[in-house]
Amino acid sequence: MNSDRVREGSRPTAERAGEGHGTGRAHGKAILLGEHTVVHGTPAIAFPLPALSARGVAHRDRPGVARENLAGQHFRFVAGGIGTQERASSGAHVAVEEALRRWGLAGEVVEVALDCEIPPARGLGSSAACAAAAVRAVADLYDRTIDSDALYEVVQCGEQFAHGRASGVDASTAVANGPIWFRTGAARELAIGLDATLVIADTGVSGATQHAVAAVRRKLETDQRAAKRLLERATDLVESAAADLAAGHAESLGKTLLEFQELLTELGVSTPEIDTLVTAAHDAGAFGAKLTGGGLGGCVLALTDTGDDAARVRAALSRAGAARTWIVPTRGAQP
Ligand code: PMV
Repeated sequence: MNSDRVREGSRPTAERAGEGHGTGRAHGKAILLGEHTVVHGTPAIAFPLPALSARGVAHRDRPGVARENLAGQHFRFVAGGIGTQERASSGAHVAVEEALRRWGLAGEVVEVALDCEIPPARGLGSSAACAAAAVRAVADLYDRTIDSDALYEVVQCGEQFAHGRASGVDASTAVANGPIWFRTGAARELAIGLDATLVIADTGVSGATQHAVAAVRRKLETDQRAAKRLLERATDLVESAAADLAAGHAESLGKTLLEFQELLTELGVSTPEIDTLVTAAHDAGAFGAKLTGGGLGGCVLALTDTGDDAARVRAALSRAGAARTWIVPTRGAQP
């Protein structure tokens, strides 16, 4: 099913860490547009966020041995052996259990420590990145290579655990080397001919992806005519965005982002905080802006020119209440 998946292949992002332990790394993501409708079969476009990463360290379990201190958002779990699957506490844990099972290593006991600089519950892909970093660390520990299709599959097991019925766009972007076009479980690399900037701003409010996905599903099931119209519109907008990204048409892409934001508002996943940041970005000269990810909190993404424009929009977003901002070039978003 994933034959089109971006061939990051076995590029060893997990570096050897010496005898007895392994390390792995993965990045966050931002959905340019297509969130929510992607769960119902439309395409989506997503960018990796190389500047925001999760790092994992895997040890063969040695109880009582001191581990290095990890800063930031961090957690540990013990996987493998008997009964740990039933006690799985995170998507990363589930993904590691699945990888061990596939490698015939289910009897092994490993401790994984994760250090994640991607803020959780902000639609920036922290759970998928943690799962990918953890699996890469365990692969490194046992000297296994894992290609991007296999990594996608085990990370997606973790995403289903963490988020219910996840489309796979987060897992796909976490293992991709550049911007992707994603639809029904398959991803391909996207041609980018646009030199622009994405300014990402955190509303400071935790998003609620599972809740938002369930609410959108109810809405679409209740009104089939509206569902058909919205999903067709979403597909048209994502196709138009891909064409603008390839051709370098920033103004037209900005309008498309604003139209997708209207669609997401109609689906009920925007909030006053999101609307405030979208308006602030637009008033400061952004080509367009919208929420990114599950919504009901989380982050906003604005498209701007490079240089001064990006700095002006970033400052406007901070003045309007953004808790944090990040700058991502549309070109060169390779991890
Ligand atoms: O995990 P988030 O908040 O970035 O949301 C993922 C995107 C959704 O379309 C809302 C859900 C999905 O599974 O695709």
